[in-house]
Amino acid sequence: MPRKTYRICVLAGDGIGPEVTDCARRVLSSLEKAGGPAFTFDAQSAGYGAFERSGSALPAEMVAVAKTADAVLVGAMDVARIPASEPEPLSALRRALDVHASIRPVRAFTGAPAFRENIDVTIVREVTEGLYSGIEYAAGPDAACAVRLITRQASTRAAEIAFRQAMERRRKVTAVHKIGVLKLTDGLFLEAAREVAKRYPDVEFETRNVDACALELVRHPEIFDVILATNVFGDILSDVAAAVGCGLGLAPSSCVGDKWAYFEPVHGTAPDIAGKGIADPLATILSSAMMLRHLGEGAWAGAVDRAVEAVLRDGPRTGDLGGRATSAEVTTAVIAALEKQMTV
Ligand code: NAD
Ligand code: IPM
Ligand code: MN
Repeated sequence: MPRKTYRICVLAGDGIGPEVTDCARRVLSSLEKAGGPAFTFDAQSAGYGAFERSGSALPAEMVAVAKTADAVLVGAMDVARIPASEPEPLSALRRALDVHASIRPVRAFTGAPAFRENIDVTIVREVTEGLYSGIEYAAGPDAACAVRLITRQASTRAAEIAFRQAMERRRKVTAVHKIGVLKLTDGLFLEAAREVAKRYPDVEFETRNVDACALELVRHPEIFDVILATNVFGDILSDVAAAVGCGLGLAPSSCVGDKWAYFEPVHGTAPDIAGKGIADPLATILSSAMMLRHLGEGAWAGAVDRAVEAVLRDGPRTGDLGGRATSAEVTTAVIAALEKQMTV
């Protein structure tokens, strides 16, 4: 069979974004030599740097390129520095590509220090609406308002992804809410989730208040399989889950829709370590393994996952995992572990 070549649109972004996406590109490029798929990368500009250069944090031509690519790889964008007059680019990108659910797996890895060894959870987070709908306005000089938009359509689509994930895992979905306060919005969200649950009789379905869910996620992560959440609750819970596991340096994600998909680490631009070459590249490398799986290259995705596991077992490690290695050294070790798999 002729080897496939995939065209990947890369939005490296700001801070450590370019550092970690370069590492993932190196790993993906190394697959061809090992007999795997080939990649071409179309680097596009988005984020705060793009805003400074071009006046737009999400240039329209970039979105057009993303739509023609086989997949999109995102680093991180310094959204905090983008002025309020501009749309927040990540949420805008998710809406433009109609990638409605972010899938965020967290597990403990042998060799990497974890806060709790028994975490193995996937958060499915709706990412196009909720409190990050982008509808925010000043209500006079001393008040401001953000609209928490919840629709049946988006809630149903996210729930569908959560149940499909659960079918591949331990068959349990926990939908998180704050129904006592957000009676209408979370009422609708839960109603949509319950409707979807009826079509998955083999999956246990439960609901939990988001605050209590955060508590149990720290105390007893083993009780969770798939957590289904609206946008902001899912944002916060995914960082909590990462901290309960091995940290943000090992937390990958994909954003999926009916037509397009993109892949990014859960972490941000890490301004405190940016420019030093010491960021953990593994979250982005694991995100590219999720991308390989999405492209139908499951065997190569498995090979990248195993190479990451081998490096976590044997080292080297970056500072977040207690080591002293650079991002480049960890990436070189992942590529060496991949080559080793090919020769045994
Ligand atoms: P952050 O995730 O960038 O950093 C939080 C902490 O985790 C920092 O101490 C950082 O050094 C550490 N960290 C993160 N990634 C790491 C890695 N790969 N290796 C080692 N350590 C790592 O969160 P923040 O500081 O709140 O956000 C910085 C900027 O990034 C803000 O503008 C924020 O809005 C943005 N952000 C963007 C995304 C994204 O583009 N997907 C995600 C989250 C935050
Ligand atoms: C994430 C990030 C983004 C989000 C921000 C930067 C807009 O925190 O992907 O988790 O909350 O969607
Ligand atoms: Mn986040």
